[in-house]
Amino acid sequence: MRVLEAAIFDLDGVITDTSSMHFKAWEELAKEIGIKLPKEFNEKLKGISRMKSLDLILQFGKCKCSDLEISMLADKKNNYYLNYVKAITDANLLPGVLECFNLLKEKDIKIVLASASSNANLVMKLLNIENYFDFIVNPKEIKEGKPDSEIFIRAAEGIGIKPCNCIGIEDSVAGIIAINSCGMFSIGIGKKEVLYMANICIKDLKEFNLEEIQAMGGFI
Ligand code: BG6
Ligand code: MG
Repeated sequence: MRVLEAAIFDLDGVITDTSSMHFKAWEELAKEIGIKLPKEFNEKLKGISRMKSLDLILQFGKCKCSDLEISMLADKKNNYYLNYVKAITDANLLPGVLECFNLLKEKDIKIVLASASSNANLVMKLLNIENYFDFIVNPKEIKEGKPDSEIFIRAAEGIGIKPCNCIGIEDSVAGIIAINSCGMFSIGIGKKEVLYMANICIKDLKEFNLEEIQAMGGFI
């Protein structure tokens, strides 16, 4: 028997369009070191930590860097990213986010954040949505990034609810793998061709349909 008790949200690309800001910052940095990133590369970077992303970009550009250079490049990317982030307001919430949160509150379903971003608290503050959350995972406490399910397991533990009674909402392939592998019901935000592993795929949270999710997930 499965009861829907909690919804675990990713932030970047699910609640707000910071995925494109992360990618613009990476593109800017990559250009400086002579690497041209194709648009499709963003799918590989979504959900992945800053250092892992940089590693993938350097591998793609066949660039060898010292540890010091790597750390400086990562800081530089973050500064570029923060430059975009500082303009965020609640107008940057993606369609359907607040309606979805309000519906979950009304149904007494807990709301949790499982973002890999160390900038998540700042973004949440700028979006003015912190009060909706029952628990926010501290990404610094997570050893294995997505696609490992550690962050989603921690999210469920944080509110004392079994993973099978949670739904996970993600825009990244890595995140969907993480959700599926801990037994949560997965909802992909984005294109079906990319997120084909998700239990349900929707364009944005405007299409979030609780009854359909409950039926498909076998929740009572
Ligand atoms: C994830 C994003 O949420 O956070 C990734 O999808 C990003 O693109 C990662 O690299 C880490 O974010 P930050 O803000 O700590 O560099
Ligand atoms: Mg994301």
